[in-house]
Amino acid sequence: MAAPKLQAPRGTFDVLPADGRRRDALRALADDLLGRAGYGPFESPVFEDTALFARGVGASTDIVQKEMFTFEDKGGRSLTLRPEGTAGACRAYVEHGMHKQPQPVKLRYWGPFFRHETPQAGRFRQFGQIGAEALGSDDPSLDAELILLLDGLLERFGVKSRLRLSSLGDAGTRESYGEELRAHLRDRESELSEEVRGRIDTNPLRAFDSDHAGTRKVMAAAPRLLDRLRPDDAEHFAEVRALLDDAGVGYDLDPTLVRGLDYYTRTVFEFESPSLGAQSGVGGGGRYDGLVEQLGGPATPGVGWAAGVERILLAGSADSTSEPPVYVAIAKDEHRRAAFALARELRGAGVAAQVEQAGRSIKGQMKHADRLDASAVVIVGDEIEVKDMSTGERVSVADAREAIAVVAGGGTSR
Ligand code: HAM
Repeated sequence: MAAPKLQAPRGTFDVLPADGRRRDALRALADDLLGRAGYGPFESPVFEDTALFARGVGASTDIVQKEMFTFEDKGGRSLTLRPEGTAGACRAYVEHGMHKQPQPVKLRYWGPFFRHETPQAGRFRQFGQIGAEALGSDDPSLDAELILLLDGLLERFGVKSRLRLSSLGDAGTRESYGEELRAHLRDRESELSEEVRGRIDTNPLRAFDSDHAGTRKVMAAAPRLLDRLRPDDAEHFAEVRALLDDAGVGYDLDPTLVRGLDYYTRTVFEFESPSLGAQSGVGGGGRYDGLVEQLGGPATPGVGWAAGVERILLAGSADSTSEPPVYVAIAKDEHRRAAFALARELRGAGVAAQVEQAGRSIKGQMKHADRLDASAVVIVGDEIEVKDMSTGERVSVADAREAIAVVAGGGTSR
């Protein structure tokens, strides 16, 4: 009986080298842009105590209610594969006493995240996120800086996107606004979808997200949180917008913007790309001034974002370029070791180099070098020859050192 065919689990994917090179390019760009703004590399475990996400992301969110990969370890502890990175960053901030460092503490991360969602184009169960968080200051310039960094990253990677921006105010404003909104929803309860009706008490804000026609009509007449902001929150938001205006970045002020996580206060934003279809969110984030305290730390403001790696790659037009290699060909079998050593020396001299490793004939090797788009071929035999692949010109060199000088320097040393 044939063994069952093994495949990557539903909603996951392999990264093959062609795609991997674009991922590498994206990561290098993100590290560079965020690094220059002072965001230091940060990593946290891929799994955490389940309680972190239940408390951090919010018990009423889809993520916590339906989408977490939760399991028990051998000691009976409940662990969860991280569905997002902000809760882990805040946990680490508290655990390592980072509030004692100069503030704000700026972190950037890149890695796999997990959500048990129905897979479709741009939506996976394991996906990559690039993220940035700034903890320990409520300066509106951090909100603006982070938005501009994500805007710059998307632009540099060739992603066309629209920025939606809003403010949710503080917890108190949200609470009294929540009551006002609940009253509005209850007044017109019969017009709402069943899902929205079931969430009036726990999460009335999510009603703005609904596609249901009746619900949309009710929401069009709903009170707006943006009109209820306390004066200092309104001022904070005005400053964020002024900084974005100064930078010349366009945005749509969208009071219906609701993010799928509970920790947000004040600024929220989302970048959407029309080319992505239904899963149009490329990246988003906002301020979460109560989260660190909620996780048992000192009262600490924070702001950040995360963007989906696969969605940026899908929507982005940027290609990766890699340096064409030098190909080291083997004239006769007895020259195998010399060729192997020469390739190693070339790499040591900073040249991308590959050596014949599949027993091809010399003709087959030249064809292979062509396929690899090699800039030059060094043929190692009783003599060493260097062939320039763009001109076809061949020169004999005295030894490996001279061959390296020729390919590294682009000419003979004589
Ligand atoms: P989020 O909006 O849930 O925010 O996720 C950020 C990005 O991750 C999304 O815009 C999307 O590109 C990508 N993403 C989410 N789920 C999937 C999926 N199933 N498949 C593919 N890509 C996906 C957060 O995670 C917050 N932690 C962002 C944040 C940081 N807020 C403050 N700091």
